[in-house]
Amino acid sequence: MLLEAHQVSRAFGSFLALSGAELELAEGEIVGLIGPNGAGKSTFFNCLSGDLQPTSGRILFAGSEVTRATPEAHARLGIGRTFQVPATFEEMSILDNVMVGAFLRHPARGEAREAARRIVEFAGLDRLRDQPARSLGTPGRKRLEIARVLASEPRLILLDEALAGLNPVEIQEAIALVRRIHARGITLVIVEHIMEVILSLTGRVLVFNQGRTIASGKPRDIVDHPAVIEAYLGQRRQRRRRE
Ligand SMILES: Nc1ncnc2c1ncn2[C@@H]1O[C@H](COP(=O)(O)OP(=O)(O)O)[C@@H](O)[C@H]1O
Ligand SMILES: [Mg+2]
Repeated sequence: MLLEAHQVSRAFGSFLALSGAELELAEGEIVGLIGPNGAGKSTFFNCLSGDLQPTSGRILFAGSEVTRATPEAHARLGIGRTFQVPATFEEMSILDNVMVGAFLRHPARGEAREAARRIVEFAGLDRLRDQPARSLGTPGRKRLEIARVLASEPRLILLDEALAGLNPVEIQEAIALVRRIHARGITLVIVEHIMEVILSLTGRVLVFNQGRTIASGKPRDIVDHPAVIEAYLGQRRQRRRRE
């Protein structure tokens, strides 16, 4: 197994945001993680990337215990992640933003620049590489965020709503980019509300609700699962009530 998460829980004060999460991920898999807002998806990613320490449970990556390791140690071992709110250096060029990721494996400036150039091209940002990040629209930003993660040369990438806000054509292009990433041998876990993305990319899906795993299985079966429908419909009903 590339990644093993056993009974991972995380509390904030007395509130249990994540409860007993289980994930065994084989190298080369693409697994989806879905669930309504507040279900604990980002909290789980934060535990898997070392950005948060679990309150209890155990996480192993490529045979090493990483439960309480730092984010840097996670990155070095090969776990890369995107953030729901991307941390882009707005005034820096696109190439320089990607270089920040490339320094992890290439401490020499020239080598980092070369590696970043290759990734920028792979991510379809070559034409824009000398522009400041602030000049990018939503699709470009999503690509930059993915390129920055790729530059750290991860074995596993955690995508946290990395395709949100794209139009249907852009979604198809982003799906194609994720396929090319996967074809490089990279394993992925994808948090995404867009069902089309989950259905076309993932081989297996976990469903979270209120910190718990309420279902798991093949994507086609999951979308028809009563507990899943209830969790999503419940959320929509709540939203309607608030409006
Ligand atoms: N740092 C934090 N402090 C307190 N509560 C948090 C923190 N991070 C997340 N939460 C709470 O934990 C729950 C799960 O959040 P999150 O993992 O972001 O959900 P999701 O990504 O599925 O929308 C939410 O109720 C959220 O408000
Ligand atoms: Mg989230």
